[in-house]
Amino acid sequence: MAGSRKLFVRTYGCQMNVYDSERMAGVMAAEGYETTDRPEDADLILLNTCHIREKAAEKVYSELGRLKPLKAANPDLRIGVAGCVAQAEGEEILRRQPAVDFAVGPQAYHKLPALVREGGVETDLAEDKFAAMARAKAAAPRRRAPAAFLTVQEGCDKFCAFCVVPYTRGAEVSRPAARVLEEAKALAAQGVREVTLLGQNVNAYHGEGPDGSDRSLARLIRAVAEIEGLDRIRYTTSHPNDMSDDLIAAHGDVPELMPYLHLPVQSGSDRVLKAMNRRHTAESYLRLIERIRAARPDIAMSGDFIVGFPGETEAEFEETLALVREVRYASAFSFKYSARPGTPAARADDPVPEDVAADRLARLQALLGEQQRAFQESLVGRRCEVLVEKPGREPGQMVGRSPWLSPVFLEAGPERAGEIVEVALIGAAPNSLAGRLAA
Ligand code: 5AD
Ligand code: SF4
Repeated sequence: MAGSRKLFVRTYGCQMNVYDSERMAGVMAAEGYETTDRPEDADLILLNTCHIREKAAEKVYSELGRLKPLKAANPDLRIGVAGCVAQAEGEEILRRQPAVDFAVGPQAYHKLPALVREGGVETDLAEDKFAAMARAKAAAPRRRAPAAFLTVQEGCDKFCAFCVVPYTRGAEVSRPAARVLEEAKALAAQGVREVTLLGQNVNAYHGEGPDGSDRSLARLIRAVAEIEGLDRIRYTTSHPNDMSDDLIAAHGDVPELMPYLHLPVQSGSDRVLKAMNRRHTAESYLRLIERIRAARPDIAMSGDFIVGFPGETEAEFEETLALVREVRYASAFSFKYSARPGTPAARADDPVPEDVAADRLARLQALLGEQQRAFQESLVGRRCEVLVEKPGREPGQMVGRSPWLSPVFLEAGPERAGEIVEVALIGAAPNSLAGRLAA
């Protein structure tokens, strides 16, 4: 019976997938599926997967192994794999794990109802992603937290030598500005106060404007900032080569644009950067950050790093440490290189031994951890605005986000959710801050 069926979605990987999971829930809601957070109650289970590193992909197979017995208990249960693993190896998943009924790539979510009924593999890269996205959007879900994601761009043309994204997410495509603004207005009308503009290469955004000419991300941000009720804007993820002058300027003069920037560099060695096909140098990245900090001195920098890229020497790794010391990151993500099938780097014949890579990762993470702690502690004693989001860990407590994206715990009632409040920051933990409502 329509209305009585239940959908369980598990999301892996990036914010893009979080957004896509909501869209899939929206598409299936139109088919009468309610979401549940208990897989054992579900009639449909979707794993929205990530293929970026080997570990991420392997997790999917172990989760499928755990879910398989549920099929014996409920013969009507359908299990589907969505996202980038489905895109990259859809047929193989169905072969390797017979409990899986269908696989669907990120460009084909509008075909979900048919796949649930009929099974199969759908991994075509949509010819018209815009139309597909608009259809999915029409069925977007209703319940809204004060902070929301909004996809403005998908795919990537950069072809970093280690990365599967250009293959799994396809070519870079921007949504027309009017569509994005329409969706942003709808979010504001639902009570959203903060919107994070998403794209694998979001600062390469070049959506069509009303006059037919291309809009930059900076112009899009300025237009979103005009929307009544949307008081905070963020964007992620960016490539250093697409940090245009107008985007840097926006950090200085759009008050709604929050002082936090995730700008992956991957390595501090020019030799490694070249082998990674990054098309920038350590020096150009450092100068770029100088210009961004000149526009917005309190900006919190975040980055991504890969250690143990094929051929990386100890001296080259130390150049990464030196770059990190110079930048002083507020937060960062670092990974051991993982060879991904089909990428140019996977053909390299000079792998860094596992134990060497593990040692480098530990040293890099120790340094980044120190910097993150220093950043959090530098905020104690200051005041800032916090967007109150949801109940905290303890009764009587709420948690929100500082302008610099750190979670802030404070004593407040649930009725404050969705408010932007002035907070005195009184304590720091490694990943969060403690605050008190200012008078
Ligand atoms: N191995 C390790 N890390 C990777 N990333 C992307 N591909 C790989 C890979 N093959 C990391 C990069 C990227 C982040 C999303 O994941 O640092 O910025
Ligand atoms: Fe992957 Fe590089 Fe594109 Fe980022 S810019 S998605 S790392 S290819």
